[in-house]
Amino acid sequence: MSTIWLKNSVFYEIYPQSFYDSNSDGIGDLRGIAIKLDYIKNLGCNAIWINPIYDSPFMDAGYDVRDYKKIAPRYGTMDDFEHLLEQAHKRDMKILLDLVPGHTSDTHEWFQSAKSPFPGEFDNRYIFTKSVWDAPEQYRMMCGICDRDGNYLVNFFSSQPALNYGFYEITHPEWQFSSDSPEAWATVDALKDIMRFWLDKGIDGFRVDMADSLVKNDDDKVATAKIWRNIREMMDSDYPDAVLVSEWSNPLRSIVNAGFHADFYLDHPGNGFNELFRKKTDNDNLSFFADQAHGDITAFLADYTPAYLCSKDHGYISFITNNHDMPRAPFYMSEWMIQLSHAFIMTMPGVPFVYYGDEIGMRYRTDLISKEGGFSRTGSRTPMQWNHDKNLGFSDADEDMLYLPLDYSEGYPTVADQEGVGGSIYENMKSLIALRKANPELSNDSEFEIVYAKEKEYPFVYKRGSFTAFINPSDEDKTIEFDTEGTKEYFFLGGYEIGEDHVVIRSRSFLLLRHE
Ligand code: GLC
Ligand code: CA
Repeated sequence: MSTIWLKNSVFYEIYPQSFYDSNSDGIGDLRGIAIKLDYIKNLGCNAIWINPIYDSPFMDAGYDVRDYKKIAPRYGTMDDFEHLLEQAHKRDMKILLDLVPGHTSDTHEWFQSAKSPFPGEFDNRYIFTKSVWDAPEQYRMMCGICDRDGNYLVNFFSSQPALNYGFYEITHPEWQFSSDSPEAWATVDALKDIMRFWLDKGIDGFRVDMADSLVKNDDDKVATAKIWRNIREMMDSDYPDAVLVSEWSNPLRSIVNAGFHADFYLDHPGNGFNELFRKKTDNDNLSFFADQAHGDITAFLADYTPAYLCSKDHGYISFITNNHDMPRAPFYMSEWMIQLSHAFIMTMPGVPFVYYGDEIGMRYRTDLISKEGGFSRTGSRTPMQWNHDKNLGFSDADEDMLYLPLDYSEGYPTVADQEGVGGSIYENMKSLIALRKANPELSNDSEFEIVYAKEKEYPFVYKRGSFTAFINPSDEDKTIEFDTEGTKEYFFLGGYEIGEDHVVIRSRSFLLLRHE
């Protein structure tokens, strides 16, 4: 198999609405992404994940798909997409599209047909009860809003009816299909047909939205995993170079059981991601990279290490700088802590993902009205800030036509202000990515070993082959016993001192040493 490219890839996530507007209508588009490929490549990213670009009424920013095989006109045409793909491949860059398998928009033609009172081809594509008087409380249903005599299950927002992959535990046999039924597998076939459509165009795989949501009442996700295994077999035999990355955040289930090539490490409750980056309210219980530095690296490791160990021979856990669903990092930590967190992300195993704008420290806006079902997520979806031209270089449209307003708060970041400026978030990230790509021992699948990690203590020290990383976000210098003979400093942020048998890692610093 040749998904080997994942081993050396660093991804860039693009929210297409907000990246670059090539035709001055105020919204980002595919031609715009193509124009900026060299920028992404220059940062060091060699793969891209684009949020949904399919035809949609945009009740959930495109995660409500109306037609899986059509490009949303506001992003361009199929020709524009093929142009983008060709331009990316020419630069040796990969492109993942966002696959939304769990639900469609309620405007999708399958649903339009299913909700009609007349029998039709797609009656079992969704999950309808037999009568509108049947609405068991444990299910999230839309009731009495179409002429078909039945209520239907929704997967996320009300405009996103759940596709029918059946039930694992059946509670209501009158209307629930088994996950082994032909009706459930007909949905799998329809999904595979969509996947083939794009894979045949040459895309390099999919990021899979809510990948764990397919089969209902499937608590251990065995039936959902069975579907993905079946899809993985199709990929291995017909598209061996393409990959599947799951939004799941459970590597045992997603990578080991379901066969995903990689899984995101997300901000789900109880997850180590929050222990690292996203706790800020309780002063005694903060994240490891919080400015006040009262975090606990062992709380992260308790979650991460078992997940890493069980999945490392099968796939990758993906550390992300952020994504389109959560507040950007400046909401939680200072610029310097963000830089330290980038050093961590870019020296850990797994496939790293950079969310557009995080390379310059774009901010989270708390003052915006919801856009396209964004709600609290809207503030992380504002246009990319390129330079000091009109609309910060994002678009030539009139300001009031922009998809979302730009951030003009004091000291707002732009690419132009950081490119080529030593010490900037952008330049440090670029150096870290370059370092990772130049050294096989820092690549996505090389060995990772913990050297020093103590409850509620700093620093955290870990090895990647002959490299050792020391990371101390706390407000005190820390001294660590360490045989430094034959070591050479490779990269650092902040300060350090090297003795014969110890390393002093200064407050709020990162150091990467290498045994020669
Ligand atoms: C995923 C997406 C999110 C979307 C939801 C429903 O969590 O990342 O943006 O709203 O699924 O499709
Ligand atoms: Ca546009």
